[in-house]
Amino acid sequence: MSKIGIFDSGIGGLTILKEIQKKCKEEDYYYYADGIHNPYGEKSEKELNKIVDNIVEYLLKKDVKIIVIACNTATTKCMKHLRKKYPEMTFIGTVPAIKVACDKGYKNILVMATTGTIQSVRTHELVKDNKRSNQTIYLQECKGLANAIERNDRKTQKEILEKIKEEYKNIEIDAIVLGCTHYPMIKRRIHSYFKDAVLLDGSKGVAKEVKRKLKEKKKLEKNTGTIIYYDSKTKKEKKKKS
Ligand code: DGL
Repeated sequence: MSKIGIFDSGIGGLTILKEIQKKCKEEDYYYYADGIHNPYGEKSEKELNKIVDNIVEYLLKKDVKIIVIACNTATTKCMKHLRKKYPEMTFIGTVPAIKVACDKGYKNILVMATTGTIQSVRTHELVKDNKRSNQTIYLQECKGLANAIERNDRKTQKEILEKIKEEYKNIEIDAIVLGCTHYPMIKRRIHSYFKDAVLLDGSKGVAKEVKRKLKEKKKLEKNTGTIIYYDSKTKKEKKKKS
């Protein structure tokens, strides 16, 4: 009887947890919100690798069978390192849904993400591998936005979004990739600035991949559907039955 471990720099990964729960209702979960290190977006790779190592060590003690990195920044910057360091563990990551946007044929695609995600080699590979010649992809660093969502600071959210809108006022953006798991939490707000755009995120894809991997490894279980939430800020666990 083991759990699905999930982590993010705070509440953003809950958008991923929700989708996984829909697919794997009877699994047990351990959600690690790393509030004390939020935001991840401006941290160096070295710093982040150290942070995620500690989280993985912690989750391993909680008897997890798979670890979901419910964070684009940690995935794009640390996935290679984690897979190398913990070859026995199965990691599922979250990357900006650039492939989905390109496959759907959108012409002007705006990718919103943290500085770390936008500057990562992985994001640039995703663009290179998926962009067609008639498509334009705008990579937009949204410095401070994830943290403003974490703190429920609406004023800062508004300021950041207004600035971004201003930058793209002459471009018909038809798809926005929400490349940070915090952003779907204010989806309606983002949409109000780009009314004609379709908003995409990777949560459904991650959930599908988690189920597929567990099935492949014969690790799908019927447990009690319990979620334990842990916050690194308070160092407290909260238990909830779904
Ligand atoms: N939610 C995270 C992501 O998807 C991290 C945001 C942050 O801490 O900067 O990138």
